Amino acid sequence: MKVFQHVSDIGDLKVAMQEAFDIKQDRFKYQTLGKNKTALLIFFNNSLRTRLSTQKAAMNLGMNVIVLDVNQGAWKLETERGVVMDGDKSEHLLEAIPVMGSYCDIIGVRSFARFENRQDDYEEKILNQFIKYSGRPVFFMESATVHPLQAFADLITIEEYWKQRTEETATVGKRPKVVLSWAPHPKALPQAVPNSFAEWMNAADVDFVVTHPEGYELDPQFVGNARVEYDQMKAFEGADFIYAKNWSCPGVTRPEDYGKVLFKDMSWTVDKRQMAVTNNAFFMHCLPVRRNMIVSDDVIESPTSIVIPEAANREISAQVVLKRMLESL
Ligand code: CP
Repeated sequence: MKVFQHVSDIGDLKVAMQEAFDIKQDRFKYQTLGKNKTALLIFFNNSLRTRLSTQKAAMNLGMNVIVLDVNQGAWKLETERGVVMDGDKSEHLLEAIPVMGSYCDIIGVRSFARFENRQDDYEEKILNQFIKYSGRPVFFMESATVHPLQAFADLITIEEYWKQRTEETATVGKRPKVVLSWAPHPKALPQAVPNSFAEWMNAADVDFVVTHPEGYELDPQFVGNARVEYDQMKAFEGADFIYAKNWSCPGVTRPEDYGKVLFKDMSWTVDKRQMAVTNNAFFMHCLPVRRNMIVSDDVIESPTSIVIPEAANREISAQVVLKRMLESL
């Protein structure tokens, strides 16, 4: 695997899921695969889970790891070609990328949406330069439009908890109803997590529903043929998994609204009222989460909240991806 961006990059999803569960059984099984290989993890934005889980996954595979926080200690980077660099940016990405590539075997990059220009964000201008100029396999650690390591971990978590639930209730074989719900947030957040979650759920064997206020329609390339329900309570009825997330306006129907916060209705905060109409649903969120904006204290602390094991599975999804990339070197 040379690029990890979309669910299609992982190949047969059932095979990838089995590989994930095998690795979870014995995460040190391939501890010599990465000997003398180096993973470079580049962060243009903050991170807790992605940084730690990916580092841990690389170490499980015996790799060396270098982590670079571009905004803390590196030269300020210019990303546009043709700019007269007489400002505060000392280095151009076009030199920095091949230099970074020369020090490693695999590169992971985190670079969020900038919300300056929808087309630039949706064309993945930054990550595509890493793919083009680094000379290394590149995996996305949350880009302008996708967060595939998160979505892969989310699917692993759903399969684990659904297996357990259907065995307990003697309903093995039943498909889970999975609901992605928009929830309010004070700041404009990217669409990367909901985009990837929708893409991966569409590829998985689940009954998938998306609920959000009008104006927050996700890009068709990600939401596909998923059912969209504008009434949150209706969407939650009989759900087995609730995945809460805020996202700013994707600008699908009104490009001029791209990246804006259109709506802060606190009635969309996931609380006991909504969870009561579900099928005792598991609650999920990628974290970090703002309590009592996205989800109430009661729901995130409830016995069916699985946000911690969900975060723990980030190590597993990263390990499958790094293993596949090491095998392709
Ligand atoms: N979910 C996630 O990617 O967390 P971080 O932003 O902390 O890496």
